[in-house]
Amino acid sequence: MGTLGCGIDTVLVPPLVCAEAFNPDDDDEVEEPRVVHPKTDEQRCRLQDACKDILLFKTLEQEQFSEVLDAMFELRVQPQEHVIDQGDDGDNFYVIERGIYDIVVLIDGVGTCVGQYDNKGSFGELALMYNTPRAATIIATQEGALWGLDRATFRRLIVKNNAKKRRLYEQFVESVPLLKSLELSERMKIVDVLGMKTFSDGERIIMQGDRADCFYIVETGEVKIMMKSKTKANQEDNVEVEITRCSRGQYFGELALVTNKPRAASVYAVGEVKCLVIDIQAFERLLGSCKEIMKRNITHYEEQLVALFGSSMDLRD
Ligand code: CMP
Ligand code: CMP
Repeated sequence: MGTLGCGIDTVLVPPLVCAEAFNPDDDDEVEEPRVVHPKTDEQRCRLQDACKDILLFKTLEQEQFSEVLDAMFELRVQPQEHVIDQGDDGDNFYVIERGIYDIVVLIDGVGTCVGQYDNKGSFGELALMYNTPRAATIIATQEGALWGLDRATFRRLIVKNNAKKRRLYEQFVESVPLLKSLELSERMKIVDVLGMKTFSDGERIIMQGDRADCFYIVETGEVKIMMKSKTKANQEDNVEVEITRCSRGQYFGELALVTNKPRAASVYAVGEVKCLVIDIQAFERLLGSCKEIMKRNITHYEEQLVALFGSSMDLRD
Protein backbone atom coordinates (compact mmCIF):
# COMPACT_ATOMS: atom_id res chain seq x y z
CA MET A 1 0.00 0.00 0.00
CA GLY A 2 2.82 2.38 0.83
CA THR A 3 0.65 5.10 2.31
CA LEU A 4 1.94 4.52 5.80
CA GLY A 5 5.27 5.78 4.67
CA CYS A 6 6.71 7.04 7.93
CA GLY A 7 8.64 3.89 8.64
CA ILE A 8 6.26 2.21 11.04
CA ASP A 9 3.53 -0.38 10.80
CA THR A 10 -0.08 0.66 11.05
CA VAL A 11 -0.97 1.81 14.56
CA LEU A 12 -4.56 1.28 15.48
CA VAL A 13 -6.09 4.35 16.98
CA PRO A 14 -9.27 3.79 18.98
CA PRO A 15 -12.27 5.33 17.26
CA LEU A 16 -13.12 8.75 18.60
CA VAL A 17 -16.38 8.43 20.43
CA CYS A 18 -18.28 11.65 20.31
CA ALA A 19 -21.20 12.39 22.53
CA GLU A 20 -22.20 15.58 20.80
CA ALA A 21 -25.80 15.49 19.63
CA PHE A 22 -25.68 15.55 15.87
CA ASN A 23 -28.33 17.90 14.70
CA PRO A 24 -27.05 20.60 12.41
CA ASP A 25 -30.58 21.94 12.03
CA ASP A 26 -30.26 23.10 15.65
CA ASP A 27 -26.80 24.52 15.01
CA ASP A 28 -26.41 27.52 17.27
CA GLU A 29 -23.87 29.09 14.94
CA VAL A 30 -25.49 32.14 13.35
CA GLU A 31 -26.07 31.74 9.61
CA GLU A 32 -23.08 33.50 8.05
CA PRO A 33 -22.98 35.24 4.67
CA ARG A 34 -21.75 33.19 1.72
CA VAL A 35 -17.93 33.19 1.55
CA VAL A 36 -16.36 33.78 -1.87
CA HIS A 37 -12.63 33.82 -2.58
CA PRO A 38 -12.24 35.00 -6.21
CA LYS A 39 -10.02 32.78 -8.35
CA THR A 40 -8.36 32.93 -11.73
CA ASP A 41 -9.34 30.31 -14.34
CA GLU A 42 -6.01 28.61 -13.75
CA GLN A 43 -6.63 28.41 -9.99
CA ARG A 44 -10.15 27.09 -10.53
CA CYS A 45 -8.77 24.33 -12.79
CA ARG A 46 -6.26 23.25 -10.16
CA LEU A 47 -8.90 23.41 -7.44
CA GLN A 48 -11.39 21.32 -9.41
CA ASP A 49 -8.72 18.74 -10.12
CA ALA A 50 -7.74 18.53 -6.42
CA CYS A 51 -11.41 18.19 -5.38
CA LYS A 52 -12.62 15.70 -7.97
CA ASP A 53 -12.04 12.62 -5.79
CA ILE A 54 -12.75 14.12 -2.37
CA LEU A 55 -15.23 11.71 -0.81
CA LEU A 56 -16.87 14.29 1.46
CA PHE A 57 -17.86 16.28 -1.63
CA LYS A 58 -19.22 13.27 -3.55
CA THR A 59 -22.71 13.39 -2.07
CA LEU A 60 -23.21 17.18 -2.38
CA GLU A 61 -25.73 18.64 -4.81
CA GLN A 62 -24.12 20.56 -7.69
CA GLU A 63 -25.17 23.90 -6.19
CA GLN A 64 -23.64 23.10 -2.79
CA PHE A 65 -20.46 21.86 -4.45
CA SER A 66 -20.13 25.16 -6.38
CA GLU A 67 -20.53 27.08 -3.12
CA VAL A 68 -17.79 24.98 -1.55
CA LEU A 69 -15.43 25.66 -4.49
CA ASP A 70 -16.18 29.40 -4.33
CA ALA A 71 -15.33 29.49 -0.63
CA MET A 72 -12.04 27.63 -0.87
CA PHE A 73 -8.75 29.50 -0.64
CA GLU A 74 -5.22 28.58 -1.65
CA LEU A 75 -2.40 27.95 0.84
CA ARG A 76 1.28 27.15 0.38
CA VAL A 77 3.11 25.19 3.07
CA GLN A 78 6.79 24.74 3.85
CA PRO A 79 8.70 21.59 4.91
CA GLN A 80 8.07 20.74 8.59
CA GLU A 81 5.18 23.18 8.82
CA HIS A 82 2.38 21.99 11.13
CA VAL A 83 -0.85 22.54 9.21
CA ILE A 84 -2.83 21.28 12.21
CA ASP A 85 -1.79 20.66 15.83
CA GLN A 86 -3.55 18.01 17.89
CA GLY A 87 -5.66 19.57 20.65
CA ASP A 88 -6.26 22.89 18.86
CA ASP A 89 -9.71 24.17 17.91
CA GLY A 90 -10.68 23.47 14.31
CA ASP A 91 -10.58 26.43 11.92
CA ASN A 92 -10.43 24.96 8.40
CA PHE A 93 -10.88 21.76 6.42
CA TYR A 94 -8.06 21.08 3.93
CA VAL A 95 -7.88 19.47 0.48
CA ILE A 96 -4.45 18.48 -0.79
CA GLU A 97 -3.31 19.75 -4.17
CA ARG A 98 0.23 18.45 -3.72
CA GLY A 99 2.75 17.48 -1.07
CA ILE A 100 3.30 14.75 1.47
CA TYR A 101 1.89 15.14 4.97
CA ASP A 102 2.54 12.99 8.05
CA ILE A 103 -0.34 12.19 10.41
CA VAL A 104 0.97 12.19 13.98
CA VAL A 105 -1.18 11.11 16.94
CA LEU A 106 -0.23 11.17 20.63
CA ILE A 107 -0.36 7.59 21.86
CA ASP A 108 0.46 7.22 25.59
CA GLY A 109 1.97 10.69 25.43
CA VAL A 110 4.26 9.83 22.51
CA GLY A 111 3.79 11.44 19.09
CA THR A 112 3.39 8.49 16.71
CA CYS A 113 3.16 8.69 12.94
CA VAL A 114 0.04 6.67 12.06
CA GLY A 115 -0.13 7.41 8.37
CA GLN A 116 0.63 9.76 5.53
CA TYR A 117 -1.19 11.68 2.81
CA ASP A 118 0.66 11.40 -0.50
CA ASN A 119 -0.31 14.16 -2.95
CA LYS A 120 -4.05 13.57 -2.59
CA GLY A 121 -6.91 13.42 -0.12
CA SER A 122 -8.19 15.75 2.56
CA PHE A 123 -7.99 16.21 6.32
CA GLY A 124 -9.26 18.32 9.20
CA GLU A 125 -12.94 17.33 8.97
CA LEU A 126 -13.31 15.75 12.43
CA ALA A 127 -12.95 18.85 14.63
CA LEU A 128 -15.40 20.70 12.39
CA MET A 129 -17.96 17.88 12.21
CA TYR A 130 -18.04 17.03 15.89
CA ASN A 131 -16.90 20.29 17.57
CA THR A 132 -13.96 18.43 19.12
CA PRO A 133 -10.28 19.40 19.47
CA ARG A 134 -8.05 18.41 16.57
CA ALA A 135 -7.46 14.64 16.80
CA ALA A 136 -4.04 14.55 15.11
CA THR A 137 -1.12 16.75 14.09
CA ILE A 138 -0.58 17.14 10.34
CA ILE A 139 2.98 18.00 9.26
CA ALA A 140 4.08 18.89 5.74
CA THR A 141 7.24 16.88 4.94
CA GLN A 142 8.02 19.00 1.86
CA GLU A 143 6.84 22.17 0.15
CA GLY A 144 3.16 21.72 -0.67
CA ALA A 145 -0.09 23.30 -1.80
CA LEU A 146 -3.47 23.04 -0.05
CA TRP A 147 -6.97 24.41 -0.45
CA GLY A 148 -8.73 25.48 2.75
CA LEU A 149 -12.44 25.65 3.52
CA ASP A 150 -13.51 27.75 6.52
CA ARG A 151 -15.33 26.21 9.45
CA ALA A 152 -18.61 28.11 8.98
CA THR A 153 -18.98 27.11 5.32
CA PHE A 154 -17.97 23.52 6.12
CA ARG A 155 -20.65 23.28 8.82
CA ARG A 156 -23.31 24.98 6.76
CA LEU A 157 -22.82 22.74 3.71
CA ILE A 158 -20.99 19.53 4.58
CA VAL A 159 -22.36 18.94 8.08
CA LYS A 160 -25.92 19.68 6.95
CA ASN A 161 -25.44 17.26 4.07
CA ASN A 162 -24.22 14.63 6.54
CA ALA A 163 -27.54 14.70 8.37
CA LYS A 164 -29.13 13.75 5.05
CA LYS A 165 -26.49 11.06 4.45
CA ARG A 166 -27.23 9.53 7.85
CA ARG A 167 -30.92 9.29 7.04
CA LEU A 168 -30.13 7.83 3.62
CA TYR A 169 -27.54 5.23 4.61
CA GLU A 170 -28.33 4.33 8.22
CA GLN A 171 -30.43 1.28 7.35
CA PHE A 172 -28.16 0.03 4.61
CA VAL A 173 -25.00 0.33 6.72
CA GLU A 174 -26.79 -1.55 9.52
CA SER A 175 -27.48 -4.42 7.13
CA VAL A 176 -23.83 -4.81 6.03
CA PRO A 177 -22.61 -8.01 7.76
CA LEU A 178 -19.04 -6.71 8.19
CA LEU A 179 -20.24 -3.69 10.20
CA LYS A 180 -22.64 -5.59 12.49
CA SER A 181 -20.15 -5.73 15.37
CA LEU A 182 -19.80 -1.92 15.50
CA GLU A 183 -21.76 0.38 17.81
CA LEU A 184 -24.40 2.57 16.15
CA SER A 185 -22.30 5.70 16.85
CA GLU A 186 -19.31 4.08 15.11
CA ARG A 187 -21.41 3.12 12.09
CA MET A 188 -22.70 6.71 11.88
CA LYS A 189 -19.12 8.02 11.89
CA ILE A 190 -18.43 5.81 8.90
CA VAL A 191 -21.49 7.28 7.15
CA ASP A 192 -20.26 10.82 7.93
CA VAL A 193 -16.99 10.34 6.02
CA LEU A 194 -17.97 7.94 3.25
CA GLY A 195 -18.43 8.89 -0.36
CA MET A 196 -20.62 7.34 -3.02
CA LYS A 197 -19.35 6.52 -6.51
CA THR A 198 -21.17 5.10 -9.50
CA PHE A 199 -19.52 3.01 -12.20
CA SER A 200 -20.84 2.04 -15.61
CA ASP A 201 -20.85 -1.44 -17.13
CA GLY A 202 -17.31 -2.75 -17.68
CA GLU A 203 -15.60 0.16 -15.91
CA ARG A 204 -12.51 -0.81 -13.95
CA ILE A 205 -12.84 0.15 -10.28
CA ILE A 206 -9.56 -1.34 -9.04
CA MET A 207 -6.48 -2.37 -11.02
CA GLN A 208 -4.33 -5.29 -9.92
CA GLY A 209 -0.87 -4.07 -8.82
CA ASP A 210 -1.97 -0.50 -8.04
CA ARG A 211 -1.35 1.17 -4.72
CA ALA A 212 -4.47 1.13 -2.53
CA ASP A 213 -6.08 4.20 -1.01
CA CYS A 214 -9.68 3.18 -0.35
CA PHE A 215 -12.16 0.45 0.46
CA TYR A 216 -15.56 -0.28 -1.17
CA ILE A 217 -18.96 -1.64 -0.15
CA VAL A 218 -21.41 -2.49 -2.95
CA GLU A 219 -24.66 -0.58 -2.50
CA THR A 220 -26.41 -1.65 -5.69
CA GLY A 221 -25.39 -3.78 -8.67
CA GLU A 222 -22.57 -6.27 -8.99
CA VAL A 223 -18.79 -6.27 -9.50
CA LYS A 224 -16.51 -9.03 -10.73
CA ILE A 225 -13.07 -9.74 -9.31
CA MET A 226 -10.55 -10.69 -12.00
CA MET A 227 -6.95 -11.76 -11.59
CA LYS A 228 -3.89 -12.39 -13.74
CA SER A 229 -1.63 -15.20 -12.61
CA LYS A 230 1.61 -14.00 -11.03
CA THR A 231 3.51 -17.05 -12.22
CA LYS A 232 2.73 -16.09 -15.84
CA ALA A 233 3.47 -12.40 -15.24
CA ASN A 234 5.27 -11.69 -18.54
CA GLN A 235 3.59 -14.26 -20.74
CA GLU A 236 1.20 -13.40 -23.52
CA ASP A 237 -1.44 -15.91 -22.45
CA ASN A 238 -1.70 -14.28 -19.01
CA VAL A 239 -5.32 -13.26 -19.39
CA GLU A 240 -7.49 -12.20 -16.46
CA VAL A 241 -9.54 -14.94 -14.89
CA GLU A 242 -12.77 -14.27 -13.01
CA ILE A 243 -12.45 -15.28 -9.37
CA THR A 244 -15.74 -14.21 -7.87
CA ARG A 245 -18.45 -11.53 -7.79
CA CYS A 246 -19.67 -9.18 -5.04
CA SER A 247 -23.14 -7.72 -4.72
CA ARG A 248 -25.18 -5.54 -2.33
CA GLY A 249 -23.77 -5.45 1.20
CA GLN A 250 -20.49 -7.14 0.26
CA TYR A 251 -17.14 -5.40 0.35
CA PHE A 252 -13.91 -5.46 -1.68
CA GLY A 253 -10.60 -3.63 -1.76
CA GLU A 254 -9.85 -4.35 1.90
CA LEU A 255 -7.05 -6.85 1.26
CA ALA A 256 -4.38 -4.37 0.17
CA LEU A 257 -5.26 -2.16 3.15
CA VAL A 258 -4.90 -4.95 5.71
CA THR A 259 -1.78 -6.50 4.15
CA ASN A 260 -0.05 -3.24 3.08
CA LYS A 261 0.46 -4.75 -0.37
CA PRO A 262 -0.56 -3.65 -3.88
CA ARG A 263 -4.07 -4.53 -5.11
CA ALA A 264 -4.23 -8.34 -5.47
CA ALA A 265 -6.85 -8.34 -8.23
CA SER A 266 -8.74 -6.07 -10.61
CA VAL A 267 -12.39 -5.24 -10.04
CA TYR A 268 -14.91 -4.35 -12.79
CA ALA A 269 -18.50 -3.11 -12.74
CA VAL A 270 -21.07 -5.56 -14.14
CA GLY A 271 -23.84 -3.26 -15.31
CA GLU A 272 -24.34 -0.01 -13.41
CA VAL A 273 -22.86 -0.19 -9.89
CA LYS A 274 -23.08 2.11 -6.89
CA CYS A 275 -20.44 1.73 -4.19
CA LEU A 276 -19.83 3.36 -0.86
CA VAL A 277 -16.18 4.37 -0.62
CA ILE A 278 -14.10 4.86 2.53
CA ASP A 279 -10.59 6.30 2.33
CA ILE A 280 -7.63 4.57 3.89
CA GLN A 281 -7.31 7.03 6.80
CA ALA A 282 -10.96 6.56 7.82
CA PHE A 283 -10.57 2.81 7.30
CA GLU A 284 -7.65 2.74 9.76
CA ARG A 285 -9.44 4.98 12.25
CA LEU A 286 -12.93 3.47 12.14
CA LEU A 287 -12.62 -0.11 10.92
CA GLY A 288 -9.67 -1.28 13.03
CA SER A 289 -11.92 -3.60 15.01
CA CYS A 290 -13.27 -5.22 11.80
CA LYS A 291 -9.79 -6.11 10.56
CA GLU A 292 -9.78 -9.51 12.27
CA ILE A 293 -12.93 -10.48 10.36
CA MET A 294 -11.31 -9.32 7.13
CA LYS A 295 -8.09 -11.19 7.86
CA ARG A 296 -10.03 -14.41 8.38
CA ASN A 297 -11.32 -14.03 4.85
CA ILE A 298 -7.80 -14.28 3.40
CA THR A 299 -7.82 -18.06 3.91
CA HIS A 300 -10.95 -18.23 1.76
CA TYR A 301 -9.30 -16.08 -0.94
CA GLU A 302 -6.26 -18.37 -0.90
CA GLU A 303 -8.44 -21.43 -1.37
CA GLN A 304 -10.11 -19.80 -4.40
CA LEU A 305 -6.70 -19.06 -5.91
CA VAL A 306 -5.33 -22.54 -5.31
CA ALA A 307 -8.40 -23.95 -7.06
CA LEU A 308 -7.90 -21.60 -10.06
CA PHE A 309 -4.14 -21.24 -10.41
CA GLY A 310 -2.69 -24.05 -8.32
CA SER A 311 -1.04 -21.64 -5.86
CA SER A 312 -2.25 -19.01 -3.40
CA MET A 313 -0.21 -16.11 -4.89
CA ASP A 314 1.40 -14.71 -1.78
CA LEU A 315 -1.59 -12.77 -0.45
CA ARG A 316 -0.40 -12.20 3.11
CA ASP A 317 1.93 -9.51 4.49
P1 CMP B 1 -9.20 16.84 12.74
O1 CMP B 1 -9.33 16.14 14.05
O2 CMP B 1 -10.07 17.98 12.49
O3 CMP B 1 -7.68 17.31 12.55
C1 CMP B 1 -6.69 16.29 12.37
C2 CMP B 1 -7.09 15.44 11.20
O4 CMP B 1 -6.24 14.35 10.91
C3 CMP B 1 -8.42 14.76 11.47
O5 CMP B 1 -9.42 15.75 11.55
C4 CMP B 1 -8.49 13.78 10.32
O6 CMP B 1 -8.91 14.45 9.15
C5 CMP B 1 -7.00 13.44 10.12
N1 CMP B 1 -6.66 12.06 10.54
C6 CMP B 1 -6.13 11.11 9.73
N2 CMP B 1 -5.90 9.99 10.39
C7 CMP B 1 -6.29 10.18 11.66
C8 CMP B 1 -6.30 9.37 12.83
N3 CMP B 1 -5.85 8.11 12.82
N4 CMP B 1 -6.81 9.90 13.97
C9 CMP B 1 -7.25 11.16 13.99
N5 CMP B 1 -7.24 11.99 12.93
C10 CMP B 1 -6.77 11.51 11.77
P1 CMP C 1 -7.53 -5.66 -2.86
O1 CMP C 1 -6.33 -6.55 -3.01
O2 CMP C 1 -7.38 -4.42 -2.09
O3 CMP C 1 -8.13 -5.36 -4.30
C1 CMP C 1 -8.68 -6.45 -5.05
C2 CMP C 1 -9.76 -7.10 -4.21
O4 CMP C 1 -10.38 -8.27 -4.74
C3 CMP C 1 -9.17 -7.63 -2.90
O5 CMP C 1 -8.71 -6.52 -2.14
C4 CMP C 1 -10.33 -8.41 -2.35
O6 CMP C 1 -11.25 -7.53 -1.72
C5 CMP C 1 -11.02 -8.93 -3.63
N1 CMP C 1 -10.90 -10.40 -3.77
C6 CMP C 1 -11.94 -11.25 -3.84
N2 CMP C 1 -11.54 -12.51 -3.95
C7 CMP C 1 -10.18 -12.49 -3.93
C8 CMP C 1 -9.18 -13.50 -3.99
N3 CMP C 1 -9.48 -14.80 -4.10
N4 CMP C 1 -7.90 -13.11 -3.93
C9 CMP C 1 -7.58 -11.80 -3.82
N5 CMP C 1 -8.49 -10.80 -3.77
C10 CMP C 1 -9.78 -11.14 -3.81
